[in-house]
Amino acid sequence: MQKDPEAESPSLLMGSSRQMTMVRELARRAGVSDAKALITGESGVGKDLVAREIHARSRRAHGRFVPVNCAGLAESLLESELFGHVRGSFTGAYRDRRGKIQEADGGTLFLDEVGEMSLRMQAMLLRFLENGEVQSVGDQVLRRVNVRVIAATNRNLAERVASGEFREDLLYRLSVIHMVIPPLRERPGDIPELVAHILQNGGHSLRFSAEAMRAMGQHRWPGNVRELQNVVEQAVWLASGNTIQLDDLPEAVRTAGRNLVTRHERRRQLADNLFDALRSGNFTFWEHVYPLFLSRDLTRHDIRELVSRGLSATKGNYRTLLKLFGMSPDDYHRFHNFLAAHDCKVDFRAFRNGAPAARRRSEVTTV
Ligand SMILES: Nc1ncnc2c1ncn2[C@@H]1O[C@H](COP(=O)(O)OP(=O)(O)O)[C@@H](O)[C@H]1O
Ligand SMILES: [Mg+2]
Repeated sequence: MQKDPEAESPSLLMGSSRQMTMVRELARRAGVSDAKALITGESGVGKDLVAREIHARSRRAHGRFVPVNCAGLAESLLESELFGHVRGSFTGAYRDRRGKIQEADGGTLFLDEVGEMSLRMQAMLLRFLENGEVQSVGDQVLRRVNVRVIAATNRNLAERVASGEFREDLLYRLSVIHMVIPPLRERPGDIPELVAHILQNGGHSLRFSAEAMRAMGQHRWPGNVRELQNVVEQAVWLASGNTIQLDDLPEAVRTAGRNLVTRHERRRQLADNLFDALRSGNFTFWEHVYPLFLSRDLTRHDIRELVSRGLSATKGNYRTLLKLFGMSPDDYHRFHNFLAAHDCKVDFRAFRNGAPAARRRSEVTTV
């Protein structure tokens, strides 16, 4: 048998658990075949990546991988997105446009969220799968294309068939190969490797403390690998020093049992990091700090500590602080309302010229 060089390249899929090893092996085998494949699993488990892996391992690897999100578009737009249209076929169609199916000629078409397709679109897709021909909207000509179809969904398609929302014949057509990607909570052994991969991709030389990594392993990860990515990226921001500690993780991930001394120290470091991010323009208050407060990753004490830093830098001037925190002058009332509503107001007078430093510190730490 001829050796396929693609088969030797490193996998896109990280994780050494038994389940992930199996997924990689199935993706390799699916790559050898040209059969249609259906990938199912919860949101964020890696369906997209598995589809790319199958393509990369296939004879079509030098052709294009063309993803189409079937949930994102209204039916008529999806039709022209997939099949293309000719000029003048509907209002706004000023020129001919090739559809994604044609773009994928010689490569792979990835139909993401295929469970959301309307019944009419399902019928059109089925027709294409049966005869391998596309007809652009408004066109008379049928064009033959050579496309491999991979579809994905987080829906249970068998249930949708039972409720009449998905065509059974289409389900059979699409799932010649069916891969189920297990949720992350069923393969916690993959977590350290995924974390290392995410840190490395972001160019961070940080590591997780043993305690923090243990908490990561115990979390249920309803958002799967996507959630894991968010948590790691956020922890990188919150961490001080080279190690991500338990306290740098969101409430949902860390377990109880922080001790008071480290909490106090943590708050000081957190305020320092956030303040630096705001001052350098990497963060703005509404875009970055506010969501962290809403998700309870920052407490009102953290906000007060941060505002105190700001007032200290602006000598007690709230208007200058707005600018420093990346807000417009028009945000003055919104910001004050926010602080008042959450009991985060800090008395600016303590930061005016001549206010004793000791008192400033106590303003900050005793609240
Ligand atoms: N096994 C894995 N190894 C490396 N990255 C992964 C893995 N699984 C998922 N990811 C990453 O997690 C994120 C979510 O994966 P994605 O394929 O978009 O999930 P889904 O399509 O199932 O919602 C992506 O950034 C993806 O690169
Ligand atoms: Mg996806």
